[in-house]
Amino acid sequence: MKVLVSVGTRPEFIKIVPVIRELKKRGIDTHFLYTGQHRDLCRPLFDFFAVHPDTDLDIMKDNQSIAHITSSILTRLDAALDTVKPNLVIVHGDTSTTFASSLAAFYKKIPVGHVEAGLRSHDRYSPFPEEMNRSLTARIAAYHFAPTTHNRDNLLREGIDPAAIFVTGNTVIDTVKLVAAKIKTQKKKQVLITAHRRENFGEPMRQICGAIAELARTFPDREFVYPVHPNPNVRSTVNALLTGINNVRLIEPLDYIAFITEMTSSELVLTDSGGIQEEAPAFGIPVIVMRRETERSEGVDAGTLILAGTEQADIVAAAKRLFTDPAYYASFAKATNPYGDGHAAERIVDKLSIQTF
Ligand code: UD1
Ligand code: UDP
Repeated sequence: MKVLVSVGTRPEFIKIVPVIRELKKRGIDTHFLYTGQHRDLCRPLFDFFAVHPDTDLDIMKDNQSIAHITSSILTRLDAALDTVKPNLVIVHGDTSTTFASSLAAFYKKIPVGHVEAGLRSHDRYSPFPEEMNRSLTARIAAYHFAPTTHNRDNLLREGIDPAAIFVTGNTVIDTVKLVAAKIKTQKKKQVLITAHRRENFGEPMRQICGAIAELARTFPDREFVYPVHPNPNVRSTVNALLTGINNVRLIEPLDYIAFITEMTSSELVLTDSGGIQEEAPAFGIPVIVMRRETERSEGVDAGTLILAGTEQADIVAAAKRLFTDPAYYASFAKATNPYGDGHAAERIVDKLSIQTF
């Protein structure tokens, strides 16, 4: 068996690294292809996890369009598949790398294994384009690795063959466990913030920044730490609205250990990220999700995510309640992590090993 793993962005790499390690540990011929959708955010991670690409398609352009990502991966991966000749392509999640890589494999009639399958918001424009990327990848994939039973049920409702779906837990917990010993938590009066979703560009992003500014003024004893995503659409709004506020610290993206350390040291996380909605529950850290929907409803049900929307007043109200109601705050720390036990990668590779290619 020869496996090609295609990855393009920071969260895909963070979550697929345990699978690549497990494939290699079992002596399976593994080719790690990096589409280069994120030129800067992945490089430090390759060094940190000591897993480097065998091929780099190097597609990133400044302020790239979704059409650019999809079309350039489709063309360049088509050629790479002819050279590498894998029997299986593994993709992760919901990015345009995920979808374009699946489509390229389909055109060569190479089966696709989809890790983190079955998450759905049921709104085709939110998250955009991720909901459609994930749904289209499910149409193409031969093997569906669903983190939770809820994710499996979404796939079953779409008519996916039950025999092709495997509930494994989310590999993000495997990664968290890989780095756990290096995390040195020091609890601080601190709020950690990230925001980058395309559907939040413009007015929602202005509302999010307005909420951060209002909270920073209302709670001057707290520090608001914000590693800002390099996307120019994010930076222009964040720099215009949050520069010069004493207790708001705008910083460059952090390496993984530094970021998880800041997360576990914080009282609260404000984010529109997908992966952070899974990591924070693993540590019992409350998260205010600055989105209108979430495909991670397990965290809301478990009581660790608050789905606040993107209106300034709603985000501020959710944070104020957490800061001023200790019993309410304490209930979040007690919530149990719904995303797995840290053995998802082993389960995925177990299932792949018994398939015949
Ligand atoms: C992408 C994914 C999104 C995922 C996110 C994780 C798509 C369409 N979007 O969104 O699903 O949640 O990654 O972070 O697949 N940039 C850099 N250096 C980098 C990365 C990005 O400068 O290392 C800048 C570039 O100007 C680039 C822009 O950010 O054009 C946008 O990058 P892109 O991958 O298109 O979108 P993300 O918002 O990162
Ligand atoms: N992350 C990081 N440094 C940062 C911000 C995030 O290492 O400065 C990690 C975070 O721990 C999580 C992943 O990046 O594992 C989330 O990526 P992102 O928010 O870009 O994408 P999403 O999860 O929304 O697809």
